Amino acid sequence: MAVQRTLSIIKPDAVAKNVIGDIIRRFEENGLTVIGTNMTHLSAAEAGRFYAVHAERPFYKDLCSFMSSGPVLAMVLEGKNAVALNRQLMGATNPKEAEAGTIRADHADSIDANAVHGSDSEENAANEIAFFFSDLDLQSRLA
Ligand code: CMP
Repeated sequence: MAVQRTLSIIKPDAVAKNVIGDIIRRFEENGLTVIGTNMTHLSAAEAGRFYAVHAERPFYKDLCSFMSSGPVLAMVLEGKNAVALNRQLMGATNPKEAEAGTIRADHADSIDANAVHGSDSEENAANEIAFFFSDLDLQSRLA
């Protein structure tokens, strides 16, 4: 399994619930390391640019409005198979379908307020990381 980097966003609902520490603990306990963090409050336009791939979807407007409703914590996670591992730890997009013990099963309230975002491929991870970070912001901690 190759070492990969992926983008995680702790969304406004989970930041407001003060469960940042619980979410990061799950990443660290499962072999992912945090190599960059950026707490920011996106504007609706910035959220729209980040989620541009969904621009034609019926949920796009609500998604952009929710993602700009409060601060988010963007993070870069590094580790073996990081893209898939992060998605496994998050659980299904719709918390009603998320497996017990996943971040979304434990912290998400709805498909919009679903606690976390994670890149769905290595290619998208590279683009999403570049949205929030420059290389100078990242500190790899591989041995
Ligand atoms: P996320 O992983 O951040 O990627 C896009 C987001 O759109 C998704 O999580 C959900 O929060 C939101 N969304 C709302 N409705 C849907 C839907 N029907 N299918 C997929 N994503 C949705």
